Amino acid sequence: MGCHRLGGRRHPDGYPAMMPIEETLWLPVCAGAQLPPGHLQAIRVLGQDRVVWRAADGRLSAAPDRCPHRGTPLSMGQVQGDRLVCPYHGWAFDIEGRCRHIPALAQVVPGARQAVACHAVRERHGLIWLRAGAAHESALLAEPPPFDGPAEGAGIRRVLCGPYDVAASAPRVLENFLDLAHFAFVHAGSLGDPDHAAIGDYRVEAGGAGRGLRATGCRAWQPKSNLLAQTGEMVEYRYEVPAPYCAVLSKCPERWQDYQESIALFALPQDPLRTRVWFLIAMSAGDRSEEQIRAFQDALFEQDRRILEAQRPALLPLDPRAEASCAIDRLSLAYRAYLGELGVRFGVLPTGPAP
Ligand code: FES
Ligand code: FE
Repeated sequence: MGCHRLGGRRHPDGYPAMMPIEETLWLPVCAGAQLPPGHLQAIRVLGQDRVVWRAADGRLSAAPDRCPHRGTPLSMGQVQGDRLVCPYHGWAFDIEGRCRHIPALAQVVPGARQAVACHAVRERHGLIWLRAGAAHESALLAEPPPFDGPAEGAGIRRVLCGPYDVAASAPRVLENFLDLAHFAFVHAGSLGDPDHAAIGDYRVEAGGAGRGLRATGCRAWQPKSNLLAQTGEMVEYRYEVPAPYCAVLSKCPERWQDYQESIALFALPQDPLRTRVWFLIAMSAGDRSEEQIRAFQDALFEQDRRILEAQRPALLPLDPRAEASCAIDRLSLAYRAYLGELGVRFGVLPTGPAP
């Protein structure tokens, strides 16, 4: 897939020329279970206010959180049946955004001028996803990112952990997830040990702007690599980055080959320095409960949060010369290059002259 450059932004061929690439991405906005029929939620996405709502029959809709009439947040309104009703003058919108009723002028059939432009919306992996920009067949992923972790059942549990709200940029959060060398220090006693901090060599494959990243053969010594582990051992990690704000890791303890665990990180960039994060975990859980799995993940995330909220510059610098790196950082450097190739701007310090 080639690229073209427009206004300082590179896009894989076929993207709408002036649409920021971030708006072509599927982004998670809330857990499906948090939005029962008849409810709505206000949510910040890519620096804009949006509303997501579920009609009484279960169908989903999402739109900018602004009534086209007089700019009132639609999230101040109510879902009534299959309509979202504005609190100011009662205009009622259907799930496609058409205005179906203007109470002050009940005999008039509202037209396109009175409609709201809805976002594409999906429910996947227990989360509701939206795409802020108009649908386009060349979007990086035509659907929300896949998750190929082990299936629920036969000793495997799937648990959605989060949301975690963190005052850090989404790319800093992603890079932390891809970083092996911090285990020994930030997660000492569980995922790492300062006396066994060495990281083995590993491979990174970068498939070009549209194809994401993969790292294999990443090995680290871990005292307690998972909730069931009783002894320390070498653990092999594999990472996939299918989209800028999403990554999946799989890990395999070397002496425990039938253990399975995959973790997806799904991040919502709310503002450049505010990110909401979920982890979807599918793992061999033995007799461990969902609550125990969540508690383990909560503790790990709190350890990462301290670092993430303190890093400076807070935006992730894409220029490889901006921070000192070493050979073991090649996955994070590949991630920065990947964001640069795609023309991602949200949450990063771009290379080159300021736009
Ligand atoms: Fe929404 Fe008037 S502002 S109906
Ligand atoms: Fe961490």
